[in-house]
Amino acid sequence: MRRIDFLQLGPMKPVTSNSADQPKLVTASAQRWDEFHQAMRPRLGATAKFTREEPLAVKTTIRIGGSARLYAEPGSVEDMCLLLRAAAAAGIAVLPLGRGSNLIIPDAGVEALVISMAHENWAKFEPRPDGAVWVGAGLRLKNLCGLAAKAGLTGFEFLEGIPGNVGGALRMNAGAMGGWMFDVVEAVQLITATGECRTLDRAAMHVDYRHCAELHDAIALGALLRPSAHTDTEAVGRQIDVYKKKRQESQPREPSAGCIFKNPPGNSAGRLIDQSGLKGERVGDAEVSPIHANFMVNRGAATSADLIELVRRVRARVRAAQGVELEPEVLLYGQQWKDVL
Ligand code: EPU
Repeated sequence: MRRIDFLQLGPMKPVTSNSADQPKLVTASAQRWDEFHQAMRPRLGATAKFTREEPLAVKTTIRIGGSARLYAEPGSVEDMCLLLRAAAAAGIAVLPLGRGSNLIIPDAGVEALVISMAHENWAKFEPRPDGAVWVGAGLRLKNLCGLAAKAGLTGFEFLEGIPGNVGGALRMNAGAMGGWMFDVVEAVQLITATGECRTLDRAAMHVDYRHCAELHDAIALGALLRPSAHTDTEAVGRQIDVYKKKRQESQPREPSAGCIFKNPPGNSAGRLIDQSGLKGERVGDAEVSPIHANFMVNRGAATSADLIELVRRVRARVRAAQGVELEPEVLLYGQQWKDVL
């Protein structure tokens, strides 16, 4: 196999889609992705997954979208650094992937290196002698709740129903049942886009509703969490059951990306969409859930184009009927909502 030094690859050329020579450019670009892949594969640890054209729809909860030009599941900080530095040197965009619960993948896929924390090395749950708990970014929130309950740690119950992992919940400051992720965070370990590891105290971070500034361009590796108290396992389990029941009664079971829009200050996006008569509104197989209007569900074969059109339609109707401009909460992977709405 031909060895190529990633530092000599130079920046990737963007693919143009509106010129007569598109096939040539696409081929050339595919070759550059191949070159990067071949150059990096031997440098990564044996357990790291690293693939070309990895289908992403199955890695999301709404099951929509195309593939990643490059996809990696690094198993160590060293591999993560290598990938980030090589991507920065080659001008390749990097997109972190959590549990895919808050994401719409475009139908054409993503022109990027997608880095997932699915490797088991990122799923640690380690209670500390001082009462805090260290959790890896790849740990599922559901497992975090289960492990905390077993250890008699209370304060994490509200996270049970959020279908994400710790990394995604930190990045989005995910929330439910009146709490949000950063309520329980003491410190976050992250890696910057250029491969530097840092640990930031909560007090030094800029966190808001569904937003964490420090994780905008960095990837969370893990966090130190502080439970509110130690109690008995049964009491924690009972609280989890209360939240679970509430969620099951008020949110749809079909594939979705969670709530599509942020709640406007002092209001509920779900109520506004409902009051605008949009429950059941459909574009292709994308549908405004009849159970909770801020969820869009995939009835089988929805595409990202269907979903984007439905978002456009719902925003327009809510703007006309209620005078409120709804902002998407879910991420449109590798793109900006303002460019497609
Ligand atoms: N409502 C309606 N019609 C609907 C949906 C809701 O009238 O179709 C009303 C409800 O009756 C209630 C109010 O709107 O009076 C608020 O609804 P809900 O309690 O379901 O909460 P929400 O504000 O819609 C938020 C989070 C959810 C989280 C729930 C439960 C956002 C955008 N959503 O929903 O988070 O699970 O609270 O705590 O902040 C997510 O972010 O992806 C998400 C699902």
